[in-house]
Amino acid sequence: MTITDPVIASERGSTDGLLSIRDLNIEFFARGAWTRVVSDASLTLKPGGSLALVGESGSGKTVTSLSILQLLPKNISRVSKGAIDFDGRNLLTLSESQMRNVRGGEIGMIFQEPMTSLNPVFTVGDQIAETVRQHRKVSRKEAWARAVEVLELAGIPAAARRAKDYPHSFSGGMRQRAMIAMAISCEPKLLLADEPTTALDVTVQASVLQLLRQLQDELGMAVLLVTHDLGVVADFCDDVTVMYAGEPVEVAPVDDLFGRPSHPYSAGLLRSLPQRTPPGEELTAIPGMVPQPDQLPPGCRFAPRCDFALAGVCDVEHPELVKLENGQLTRCIRIARGELSSGELVAAPLGTPAAHDLSTIATDVAEQNGSDR
Ligand SMILES: Nc1ncnc2c1ncn2[C@@H]1O[C@H](COP(=O)(O)OP(=O)(O)OP(=O)(O)O)[C@@H](O)[C@H]1O
Ligand code: SF4
Ligand SMILES: [Mg+2]
Repeated sequence: MTITDPVIASERGSTDGLLSIRDLNIEFFARGAWTRVVSDASLTLKPGGSLALVGESGSGKTVTSLSILQLLPKNISRVSKGAIDFDGRNLLTLSESQMRNVRGGEIGMIFQEPMTSLNPVFTVGDQIAETVRQHRKVSRKEAWARAVEVLELAGIPAAARRAKDYPHSFSGGMRQRAMIAMAISCEPKLLLADEPTTALDVTVQASVLQLLRQLQDELGMAVLLVTHDLGVVADFCDDVTVMYAGEPVEVAPVDDLFGRPSHPYSAGLLRSLPQRTPPGEELTAIPGMVPQPDQLPPGCRFAPRCDFALAGVCDVEHPELVKLENGQLTRCIRIARGELSSGELVAAPLGTPAAHDLSTIATDVAEQNGSDR
């Protein structure tokens, strides 16, 4: 598969999506300097669609989703470039009072740890009713009725009674369902779900994801699912954006990503999935760690961990996100040049011993290619 063109901004962030993030840079101030933690992030989500933002810890998933709601910490962070178009407006240009209408009204949100978002001193029903009253002109009674209704929708048994309980009397899974109920209470067009099931055990995880999918179908809302676990997106999402060290490295429909990944990092994540490890075989992981934002390697940010890195190229040239003939977007020089195929990425064992030695890899590749590089 070969490159067609570098992706231009209008292709990455078409304005006909419900949400279109274009060329976003996010910076944090630490130790006397601004450091970029997200670079040129672009993504598009169509009305009613579902997109997963996937990547290891520290890849910039949460800060990207917080930036949509202007919830990045004040004074120590800034969006230094880009646009976030939502339903026809650039959210970055809205005032705090306008954003309050967007948050919880047009865009619902669920975070990883529901106890940080539910207030322990109010009943679950009161908190949901309060959200409803912030965004809709309804009486207290109507708001309470809506709270019970959405708790029912979220699968809370005996919702009318449980609405009067405080969050501490809910189990972890029930609290997450209560958060989901709150998030959908105003029928948002978009739901942001940041690691919504990570704190839950596996069976509860599955039922919460099933609930999200069912609500998405019933309410027709779009979902941006943030997760470090590629496994959870397989059944849930239409499209996937894989983030690495603050930048998107692959964008693809979920079936294509699973069937023919077009970036060594995506392929590494797939091969690390427990579901893909044959019974009795040891689980594998991508060697090394995501680099800190102030210690990014020159060239391709994934090069120090990449089994396919080519010395003199991958450690020098910073890859552009390019569109392949099959429509997938990749930030890999060798895939774009047609030197590597999805098949090779999928077949290679993870963490070949040469993975961290670019010069050895260069020799290996040169020998394979019969060149004298
Ligand atoms: N408050 C902060 N101050 C300074 N740097 C921060 C802050 N919050 C996030 N960062 C940095 O921004 C980068 C991206 O962090 P982010 O939380 O978005 O990662 P993530 O992909 O969501 O990871 P995880 O899977 O662990 O949730 C990291 O390098 C992180 O250290
Ligand atoms: S550009 Fe080079 S180092 Fe980066 S992912 Fe592609 S092969 Fe690996
Ligand atoms: Mg996060």
